Amino acid sequence: MKYTIAVIPGDGIGPEVTDQAKKALDAVAEAYDHIFLYKEAQLGACAMEVSGDPLPDDTIEICRKADAILFGAIGDPKYDNNPSAKVRPEQGLFRLRKELDLYCNVRPVKAYDNLISNSPLKREVIKGTDFVIFRELTGGIYFGKKELSKDKQTAFDVSSYTVDQISRITHLAFKAAQYRKQKVTLVDKSNVLETSRLWRKTVTEIAKLYKDIKLDYLFVDNAAMKLILNPKQFDVILTENLFGDIISDEASAICGSIGLLASSSIGDKNAMFEPIHGSFPEAKGKDIANPLASILSAAMMLEHLGLHEEADAIERAVEKSITLGITTRDIKRKTQFSASTSKVGDFIADYITNQDDSNMNFKNIHMGQSTII
Ligand code: IPM
Ligand code: MG
Repeated sequence: MKYTIAVIPGDGIGPEVTDQAKKALDAVAEAYDHIFLYKEAQLGACAMEVSGDPLPDDTIEICRKADAILFGAIGDPKYDNNPSAKVRPEQGLFRLRKELDLYCNVRPVKAYDNLISNSPLKREVIKGTDFVIFRELTGGIYFGKKELSKDKQTAFDVSSYTVDQISRITHLAFKAAQYRKQKVTLVDKSNVLETSRLWRKTVTEIAKLYKDIKLDYLFVDNAAMKLILNPKQFDVILTENLFGDIISDEASAICGSIGLLASSSIGDKNAMFEPIHGSFPEAKGKDIANPLASILSAAMMLEHLGLHEEADAIERAVEKSITLGITTRDIKRKTQFSASTSKVGDFIADYITNQDDSNMNFKNIHMGQSTII
């Protein structure tokens, strides 16, 4: 089959990790006889350098027409450290999420057995952790009215949600739970926030339609604690935009590195796939960033396109790279060499095209000299 993929490398390490995801996709294309046609588009600080606009019109057009969107990262310290900047790279991402109505952000969190020692948490606490965060992505405080008063002494950000916004992601979260461990945890702050009370009421109503699913509720502060104390209790976590942003970074500590977490942002017409890590400017261009989150995002993309076997092939290759320790420095185990970003990508691509361990010579892989034999 032929698929058009909009590729948005973005800022910082975005381009180098996205290149590795493309290598994995090219390997899938070769092994399974598909064609992935990449259409590159700009978003973020790199787009601002060219036109002043973090989201040029042609990026929206390319994304709308594509079968799926693969995105790298956004952000630049130049803007982070300047609170009075009028335009910020992130505004481009928010506008793209809104224009394409990518309301459902899915962030799976899984503890890999071979990486458990990389986590700051105890083995017995995290072993077997496997949950997914459903974060609402086009509403809440991110998109409400915001203002700084004329005298610059007061500021506000409004958070609002409608029943429709809550309902559509809730249905998707419950449907996902049906294929998992049949449990949904709504994370809110309904002891304080009116929006959270609307979430609770709406989700409780919808839960009646899914009798096979157990629904429970946690306040976000308590959830933040329980994620660390006992992450295994979670299956599907359903939450609003800001809470989902915060707890998903927290959750990344469970698996040992934020460089492992992939995500999808789904709308009714379009879908975008991206690592949850940011642009990591300190590592830009050094070939040290972990590409696995981006590669796993490509696997989520294939899953979304209905290419299940192909997605599995990428996931198996990622597992293999972790098992063999062909990983970047953030997840290397004490006695190992670390591989560069591009070498990890090469290994994954090789493994996908060869499929069979016996065709690969792993001996020199740490030195970047592996060969296919
Ligand atoms: C994320 C990121 C973004 C967000 C940033 C880059 C604006 O942290 O996707 O989690 O806050 O949504
Ligand atoms: Mg975030």
